[in-house]
Amino acid sequence: MQLRFQNHRFRIMLVGDPHEKPEIEKPEEKAKLDDYLRLQEAAIKALSPDLVILMGDNAGGSSPEELREVLMRMTEPYRAANVPFAFILGNHDLEWDKEFTDLQEHYDVYRTVPGCLLTDRDQVNGYGDYHLTVKQTDGDLDALNLWFIYSGNRAEPQYNSTYDFVKTEQIEWYKNAERALREKNGGQVPAVLFQHIPVPEEFRLLRKRSVFSMLADGVQGQDLRKGTFYSADRKAGTTGYVGEAPCAPDYNNGQFAAWKETGDVFAAFFGHDHMNDFVGMTDGIILGQCKTAGFRVYGDGLMQGVRVLDLDDRRPRCLETRMVRYRELVGSNCRSIKGRNKMIPDRWNVKIDVALKALPFAAAAAAPLLIHKIIKRK
Ligand SMILES: [Fe+2]
Ligand SMILES: [Fe+2]
Repeated sequence: MQLRFQNHRFRIMLVGDPHEKPEIEKPEEKAKLDDYLRLQEAAIKALSPDLVILMGDNAGGSSPEELREVLMRMTEPYRAANVPFAFILGNHDLEWDKEFTDLQEHYDVYRTVPGCLLTDRDQVNGYGDYHLTVKQTDGDLDALNLWFIYSGNRAEPQYNSTYDFVKTEQIEWYKNAERALREKNGGQVPAVLFQHIPVPEEFRLLRKRSVFSMLADGVQGQDLRKGTFYSADRKAGTTGYVGEAPCAPDYNNGQFAAWKETGDVFAAFFGHDHMNDFVGMTDGIILGQCKTAGFRVYGDGLMQGVRVLDLDDRRPRCLETRMVRYRELVGSNCRSIKGRNKMIPDRWNVKIDVALKALPFAAAAAAPLLIHKIIKRK
């Protein structure tokens, strides 16, 4: 199926980290699936996207048959509305069974799911990367290109990075594929890129803070950045929510530099960090997070949602984007999130936990002062 702008508009709906599973026998497991599907159905109905993209850490299954079963039920709302979908895989997608870890085998299963735009094995390079074009409203030129890049799982020890990064061979493939597309169209095709693990340049959208920022909007870095605290750099124009430090690789293999060199990518969106939905721009490229839409993993409150991207073929390289959350689409009718988690908005959970941990230390620090004051009065 060839994607095309309709009346100059093209809308993409991003679904972050669903983490769907085969298990639905227990009522609490079934409730999580039902809440996920409720969100997807409401989002499709309210937003009428032209394309859905699963952003990685999509679905588990110990065999091709089991994975297909999970994928079939989680994509049912798209089929019912005749909306095609594309996908990238995340770091957890190949972890379900030691006998079922081959990337191409997983892609083969996705290709059998009706509505999946990846229909041909030749569309994908040997590393799990592919691209789809969107034709202009009238005519046969590609108005937009969509890159789907596989970002691996854990990095090899010599790179001193927990998470993997896009390999040099993949970057070379990207450059060659971009060149071929440019030649075919007689000019460069603007592109949006989708990938599970973010690039390290995402930290440019944040600013460093003190440890006390943890009580407000600060988050602590991970791995090599442990002990450093961050929040959104509002002065630099970062919008949205930073619920955790980005789990980007600590090794920079030059992927972002390649986008700058090539010049086609004007926006890139990532999953992986379930709570984050911040967006900003660095070096002229929009970087954006898509938070989780799933109910099987950590999150915060009823803030699960989908990200919408609106594009217009009369305004290349312009993009409007926003998160649409469960709370807005469905309300508080949710079976798998209960208690205070249902009541409170972003970060309050984190703040309450930090405050509870900090309370004994604050009391211990204040006690000598208090005793000193009492003795002095006497
Ligand atoms: Fe995830
Ligand atoms: Fe992930």
